[in-house]
Amino acid sequence: MDMVTTSAPGKVHLIGEHAVVYGEPAIIAAVGMRCFVSAEKSDKVSVVFKQGGYENELPVEEVRGIGNKASDLWEDGNKSGDFSNVFDFCKGNKFCEVSIGTVLNDLGINEGVSINIDQNVPLGSGLGSSAAYSVALIKAISELFGKNLSLEEVNRIAYRLEQFKHGKPSGGDNSTCCFGGLVWFQKGNPNTIKSMKEEIPYKLENFVLAYTKKPEKTTGELVQMVMNLEPEYREPRIKALGRATLEMREALKAKDFGKVKELINLAQEKLAELKVSIPEIDKVCEKVKEIGGAAKGCGALGGGVVLCYHEDKEKLIGTIKSFGIEPWEADLAVEGVRKE
Ligand code: MEV
Repeated sequence: MDMVTTSAPGKVHLIGEHAVVYGEPAIIAAVGMRCFVSAEKSDKVSVVFKQGGYENELPVEEVRGIGNKASDLWEDGNKSGDFSNVFDFCKGNKFCEVSIGTVLNDLGINEGVSINIDQNVPLGSGLGSSAAYSVALIKAISELFGKNLSLEEVNRIAYRLEQFKHGKPSGGDNSTCCFGGLVWFQKGNPNTIKSMKEEIPYKLENFVLAYTKKPEKTTGELVQMVMNLEPEYREPRIKALGRATLEMREALKAKDFGKVKELINLAQEKLAELKVSIPEIDKVCEKVKEIGGAAKGCGALGGGVVLCYHEDKEKLIGTIKSFGIEPWEADLAVEGVRKE
């Protein structure tokens, strides 16, 4: 096989981010922006990451060593409860080598590979760019070397990569990028990853994304911030988000968009109380609410996109534009990882 190209979508939380880390359910949609990864056999490991403005070439052994080092640092972090060393090690474009090395190690591949990344999920947007990349990368390398991985296996390795980037993530992001569609996700032993296609067979419309700014903190840091809140303060809010997710499932099934809006606005209120919102997100949410819609920050927050809903989409778009923000109208519940 000469070259394999794969792609995986980003994701957007309709509801449940942060609470999902504590075992509450989340509803997550695969979003119609994709990360494309091409893989070709080579005698070294080389990577070209267009959007990161990054190119590098290293011997296979060195890249596998980088993957092992990330794994050791994560294990240390897991013992001490402080993942800052693995976060620092994986920062920025170094994650290219960490991820490729980890996949080669996991699949027992001792050959080189040339990787080309075309990332169309905006970085730092709360739309799961790292999860989409990881899933597409694993699929590309495994297909190139004839490893017949199931989606569950792709997802298992992707979760490992997400751990290096985010410490102890829920696994919701990579699961949605891998399986696609609209996913009911709950962390557990094992995780619940359920397609909501039968319950909610219709197309989700009138949702628009508004990008605020690049988060100053990483997902791992924002998750840690919530963890550092006093449990007596945090827990009732996490539980409220969990209840809202259960209600959201029923509201979507019943096509009760009045209730959907109420729940989106409630989710934003709780996320703000968990101190992960920022003034730029708050402002957009308040304005959308004022015109009779609903809006909430997405992913880890700290910036990134706001998910906005209004029955009158044109009015919503006009409101978002009034902030000088160009709205993104991406499809929701799209196909998961695939070979192109
Ligand atoms: C990040 O996209 C979503 C969080 O809930 C973290 C996670 O689920 O691992 C904040």
